[in-house]
Amino acid sequence: MTTAPSPQPALRTQGAPEPDLVSIRDLIYQVAGIFHPDNKLSLLQDRCRRRMTEVKAATLREYFECLTIRPIRQAELTALLNEITIGETCFFRNQAQLDAFRRVVIPKIIEAKADLPIRRLRIWSAGCSTGEEPYTLRMVLLEEAADRLKDWNIEIIATDLNERSLAHAKQAVYGSHSTRNLTPSYKERYFLPYGDQLQVCNRVRANINFVRLNLSDDSRMIFMKSLDAVFCCNVLIYFDLTSKSRVVQHFFANLLPHGYLFLGQSESLFGVNDDFQLVHLPGTTAYVKGNGTERRSTR
Ligand SMILES: C[S@@+](CC[C@H](N)C(=O)[O-])C[C@H]1O[C@@H](n2cnc3c(N)ncnc32)[C@H](O)[C@@H]1O
Repeated sequence: MTTAPSPQPALRTQGAPEPDLVSIRDLIYQVAGIFHPDNKLSLLQDRCRRRMTEVKAATLREYFECLTIRPIRQAELTALLNEITIGETCFFRNQAQLDAFRRVVIPKIIEAKADLPIRRLRIWSAGCSTGEEPYTLRMVLLEEAADRLKDWNIEIIATDLNERSLAHAKQAVYGSHSTRNLTPSYKERYFLPYGDQLQVCNRVRANINFVRLNLSDDSRMIFMKSLDAVFCCNVLIYFDLTSKSRVVQHFFANLLPHGYLFLGQSESLFGVNDDFQLVHLPGTTAYVKGNGTERRSTR
């Protein structure tokens, strides 16, 4: 759980403050680390209204009670989080990052693990949304399966807070918007036709473990151990500095000493965390855990 930030001025709808909406905003922040600044409160209100119709709550006060003291509170909080966390994603969202992962980072991980008896690669897609990111990573790794990663056991853990997105991810069926960046060769080798859509083939779906996990849940985060790489792309944009720092500290603790953290194209750890070391890769950047003896810029 994240500590609520200092009280913010309430949204004023037609001049009137909405204290119950602010209470809901603070609850979501405490539970999931997602912070709605004042200029996004109308969005939150809209999402609440959708749920209020479902649970027949007439007012925001009544809805706040549904989220906190009524027997449905746990299920309703999950349902509201499902409404709030609908995330844009697609296959091969950041080609430069994937190329750098394949050509620079994987060889470095292999080198770091050269003396270990077990050849195991453990990758975490944190905030995987509907699954395009972990499936993309799996395809990239399959491209190396006959060569650099021959005989390696590869595990991908894909987590998200949104259970509807996870259900979609497990079904692995995607329309043209999600698949727009796929080359014909990838489509042919890793997908099967599914009506007018495409379904990810079993070879790609194997060894990807989809799990609901809240990145703000410290009690769960401490168990995500022994990672070679974490992809947490376009997720922390919803968090404020405090909750972001906390999540990133968990990534740092859970990565192996050679481990890498990848963020979204417009994201950085500047002002968030000093422990990770920024590395410049062709066309992109990443963060490496390093041996912890050096402190470098996270800009
Ligand atoms: C924009 S999507 C990013 C998807 C993918 N990583 C990408 O870059 O294409 C952001 C995802 O973060 C998830 N998310 C937001 N807050 C979260 C939290 N507290 N714990 C876990 N996932 C969260 C949302 O549910 C959403 O699926």
